[in-house]
Amino acid sequence: MSAQAGMRETNVMIEPPALNATNVLQVHGLNLYLDAKGRRLHVVRSVDIDLAASEVLGLIGESGSGKTMTGLSLLRLEPERAQITAETMRLDDTDLLAASQGALRGLRGSRIAMIFQDPVGAFNPAKRIGWHAREVLRRRATRAGPWRPVARELLAEVDIADADRVLGSYPHQLSGGMLQRVLIALVLAAEPQVIIADEPTTNLDNIVEQQILRLFRKVKRTHGAAFIFITHDMSVAAALSDRIAVMYAGEIVEVGPTEAVFETPKHPYTVGLIRTSRALQDGAARLPEIAGELPGLSGQRTGCAFAPRCPERMPQCTTRTVGMARPAPGVQARCLLYADA
Ligand SMILES: Nc1ncnc2c1ncn2[C@@H]1O[C@H](COP(=O)(O)OP(=O)(O)O)[C@@H](O)[C@H]1O
Ligand SMILES: [Mg+2]
Repeated sequence: MSAQAGMRETNVMIEPPALNATNVLQVHGLNLYLDAKGRRLHVVRSVDIDLAASEVLGLIGESGSGKTMTGLSLLRLEPERAQITAETMRLDDTDLLAASQGALRGLRGSRIAMIFQDPVGAFNPAKRIGWHAREVLRRRATRAGPWRPVARELLAEVDIADADRVLGSYPHQLSGGMLQRVLIALVLAAEPQVIIADEPTTNLDNIVEQQILRLFRKVKRTHGAAFIFITHDMSVAAALSDRIAVMYAGEIVEVGPTEAVFETPKHPYTVGLIRTSRALQDGAARLPEIAGELPGLSGQRTGCAFAPRCPERMPQCTTRTVGMARPAPGVQARCLLYADA
């Protein structure tokens, strides 16, 4: 055996493969700034997201916490007047910050895709569903034979039985729930590595919502895509996600395995969020709200963003920089309760 081969063998034995070798998405230190009426808002603050292949990450937090802006940034679909900075922002081997507009257009829909709350915007209103299906199939590398049987199969996968009627319809002729299902089918057909779903069931009635969530659970089992599932609904997040990331005022304040975050939340904000959602499920007449408002997004921040609302606040919370602590295996919380002294 040559010395080199011997070394390689030793390496394999003593060094487990670096975890991030399998991460399809690696985002470190993502910031997004927006200009709003002459004021510069720091809307996404030092966000880290590492997504393993076929992992589902639930991104939760109150309205206005920066979830949508984070999602849009990952597809480089941030608003025109936004600036993005990041230490790392990679989709597999592609640098999303450095990629040209042309390269980004090529990636979107094929390697990374987004499903929005309102599916209507994803369709050309003047074209039938069949036309949209053909467009997606045309771009697939493995295309052969007539498109219609393949399109029927795609729709069957999202539980649409009368595929021919749907393929012959214009987007406005379908219900919101049906259109969302069609969109999911088309997104899956392109076989992207990463799918970002931003509150995809929020506009739908409860029965349709349950159907679509069942669909996502099936997709999770049968497709290899990694998901970021953005929602303000804790029960949705819990049902679908492998890991949960909690956003507050532009920052991720806690991230960890779903069960750990829901059973033993560490950050006082997460504790409050979960208490609120449990009360909702139990049909509480009055919600135990987290008192106070979200902090402003302009300017520098000193200390913890949640401190003004936090029941566990300590004097140093408003003066010290608060980094991520590791209060439990695989769990990170941006809270001084868990910081090393
Ligand atoms: N086009 C815009 N111009 C100015 N501010 C915006 C714009 N879009 C969003 N924001 C602000 O950015 C913050 C984050 O918004 P968003 O990412 O949509 O939150 P979420 O999806 O968590 O509800 C909010 O405070 C929102 O008011
Ligand atoms: Mg949003």
